[in-house]
Order: sequence, then C-alpha cells, then structure tokens
Amino acid sequence: MKLGLLAMATVAAFAVIGCGSGDGGGSGTSASGGSATNGATASKENLPLVAFAQANSSDPWRQQFDAEVKAEADKHKSDFAFEEQPAEDDPNKQISVIDTFMVRQPKVLLVSPVTVAVQSAVEKAFDAKIPVILLDRGVPGEKYTVHIGGDNVEIGRQAGEYIAKRLNGKGTVLMIQGLGGVDAANDRKEGAMASFKKYPGIHVIMGDDCKFQRQVAQNYMESFLQKGQTFDAVYAHNDEMAIGAFQAYDHAATKPKVKPIFVGIDGCQHEVIDMIKAGKLDATFRYPDPGPKGIEIAADILKGNMPKDKKVVLPTVLVTKDNADKYLADNPNLAK
Ligand code: FRU
Repeated sequence: MKLGLLAMATVAAFAVIGCGSGDGGGSGTSASGGSATNGATASKENLPLVAFAQANSSDPWRQQFDAEVKAEADKHKSDFAFEEQPAEDDPNKQISVIDTFMVRQPKVLLVSPVTVAVQSAVEKAFDAKIPVILLDRGVPGEKYTVHIGGDNVEIGRQAGEYIAKRLNGKGTVLMIQGLGGVDAANDRKEGAMASFKKYPGIHVIMGDDCKFQRQVAQNYMESFLQKGQTFDAVYAHNDEMAIGAFQAYDHAATKPKVKPIFVGIDGCQHEVIDMIKAGKLDATFRYPDPGPKGIEIAADILKGNMPKDKKVVLPTVLVTKDNADKYLADNPNLAK
C-alpha cells in the first residue's frame, strides 16, 4: 500500500512528462516503421542537420517514441532538418546508419543504442566533436554529451518490491529477460534481484532472453508451461513480453492453479492498462519517452547552450488496478 501511495504521488507530479508528453498528439504523422524527417531538408534549405539513429521502429514503445520525437522536431523545422533512421534492433545496421549520418556532418547526433555493441560508433562521433545525445539505452564509458532515460535499476527495484509484497514474501518468480547486451535489461534484472534478495522466501527462475518481443515471450512461456513447472509471478522486462507470457498462460492446458502475478514495464499502451483493469496483468511501470527532451536539448545545443548535466533521469509511475483510470485520464495519448 505504501508503494501505491508513493506511486500515486509520482503520477501527480510527473503526469506531463509521462506518456503522450502532453503534446496533444503532435503533428499526427507517425514515423513508425521506417525513416522519418521533420519536412525540412538540410542540403536544400541550408539548415543544420539533427540526425537520429533509432534502435528499431517496430514495437509499440518505439512507435510512440517516434511519433513524439517527430512532433517535437516538427516544431523546429525552421531551425534544423531532422532525420531519423531505425536499425531493426541490429547493432551492425545501427553502426552503418551512424557512419552514413557522419558523412553528412550532423550538428547533433541522437542515438538510441541497439546494444552496447554500438559503443565504438558513438565514440567516433563524439571524438569528431559532434554532440551526441543518448536516448533510453546507453553505452559504457563517458564519450557522449548527455544520456536521457529512465532509471532502470530503480524501476527493477520497485518491480521486485511490488512482486515480493504481493506474494507476502514467499513464492517463485519467473523473470523473462529483455534483449541481451542492452543495459536496460541488465539494470531491470539487477534492480529486481536486489529487492528479491531481501526476501529469503522468494525464489527466482531466470528465464530466457525474449528480446523484448511479445511473440518470443509467448513461445517461451508455452514451452515453459509444457514442462509443468509452477510459479507465482512473472516479471517481464517490458510489457510486450508480459502480454505474450500472459497469453500463453491463458491458453495453456496445464498451468499453475492460482493465477500468477504478471508485471511488465513501459506503460505506453492502452491495451496494457485495459489488461490491468481486467485483472489479466497486475502492474506496469511507466518507462518514460526520452524523445521530446532529446529534441529540446538538441535545439538548445544549436543555440550554443551545451547541457550542464551528463545524465537526465526521467521518472517512472507504478500503474495497478488502483490508479489505472487516473493513469488513462492523465495520459490520453497512449498507443491503442
Ligand atoms: C523497445 C523497448 C522497450 C523497452 C526499451 C528498453 O524497443 O524494448 O519496450 O522499455 O526498449 O530499452
């Protein structure tokens, strides 16, 4: 309950920074599924180029991120040309996207790294004196200008605490992991493990790397259930995998007698909040969209103001049945 109250306070304080970013849907032009621009052309109009290397543009969280980043960049179309290229979660593709952007000498480079494997491309840009803004996932080292994102260790810690409390300190948790080599997945695991360790009655089964994808998690859960193993909670490193795991559970012939708790992260889909209201999923933790802040900082850099802080941490919100309606009201632009 204490956790619930704390989260409610956070909802009130940070509603505007959460899903939708209060932009009323922006230009309405979604960048989902491919490259995007803000309509301005760097070469023709002699505008500086702000380039964005996105990890992928296919999952719901990224689609919302793309729409919001584009809406924000649209507001600056007389100041700079904005171009985005996604990389289908392939680090090699993202390295070549960054290299290609670099030939055009962008004035600011935004990168949402696929994995830590793109570190060298990020460093090359930074060494070439291009301001580099990392969004969401990060890379090791210090060779970037600013990193904007949620605190994944803290989200993991809160998720672990929520699950342990819901289980009254006793039970088995199946952890479904996000893409290997991604700091967000590691941090979400590390934070949750730190909480679980405080409860000797909590046993953790470390599940597979399900790549942050719904279908992969659904397949994994199907085969897991077929083995007849029992568990009391599923902690998935994002909502897409929580949905996939729930769907496999829902359709399975053999499953735990008592419905397990299902917890995810992202909170950017209407579907997830509806599933929480219906008692299918139990909770999600909002993973804030770093895009609008990234564009704001890029615009400031172009005006000659370099960011003072190397890290901008965006807040989370715990969403359960208790505050689901309020969350929907506070975030009218959730992805359908
Ligand atoms: C989208 C995503 C989100 C997750 C984030 C972590 O690609 O998988 O679901 O929160 O990336 O980096």
